[in-house]
Amino acid sequence: MARSKLGDRKSRHDRFHKNARKKGFNSRAVFKLEEIDSKAKLIGKGHRVLDLGCAPGSWLQYAATKTGTSGSLVGIDRFEVDLGLPNGRTLIGNVYTVEIEDLLGDLDNFDVVLSDMAPDTTGVRSVDQTRSEQLFERALDIADATLTANGAFLGKLFQGPEFQALIKRCRRDFAKVKIIKPEGSRKESIEQYICATGYRGQPTQEES
Ligand SMILES: C[S@@+](CC[C@H](N)C(=O)[O-])C[C@H]1O[C@@H](n2cnc3c(N)ncnc32)[C@H](O)[C@@H]1O
Repeated sequence: MARSKLGDRKSRHDRFHKNARKKGFNSRAVFKLEEIDSKAKLIGKGHRVLDLGCAPGSWLQYAATKTGTSGSLVGIDRFEVDLGLPNGRTLIGNVYTVEIEDLLGDLDNFDVVLSDMAPDTTGVRSVDQTRSEQLFERALDIADATLTANGAFLGKLFQGPEFQALIKRCRRDFAKVKIIKPEGSRKESIEQYICATGYRGQPTQEES
């Protein structure tokens, strides 16, 4: 790749990063959620929000601005996140092994489940896609176990061989499903976001 292009990309990245910091957010990832939420209106006042893969914390910080102090925020990541949010609780853990009760704590369910989880990339596209699809599927399982009726789900996904099957599952479980590539997402990144609203409730055994 030409040196100037690399330089352009780096400076764009730095701009997004600096802008996020200036606005008090821990990561440029905030702009992706902000863009999606401004259209889909996922997070509202008083909502209970679960954020899977929440480090370094910008999605939770953004969610807090939308829920206000009457809402509740729960996050989990393999790395520690301490945001000092009065209505927030973060767990250090792995989504594959965490107990659902530990995510819920005192809450009965969540209004919104977010997942910006990404695997540690290997550079081998098929491996990274499969790991991302597994994380997305786990996020959907957690949403199925914790979402309230009519709740919303937003999950990051690297499109791979299971993509259509995962979208089919989303369409079965939610009234409306959109596949989004936000402007804040790097063009060269294979990530997409699946925005699903109108949760229909837990699937019966025959449906699942
Ligand atoms: C792109 S970052 C999330 C950025 C976050 N949305 C923000 O705004 O600050 C992806 C996160 O997913 C987490 N993650 C990946 N696999 C995970 C797993 N199995 N369990 C918990 N967290 C995981 C990573 O540790 C990483 O911090």
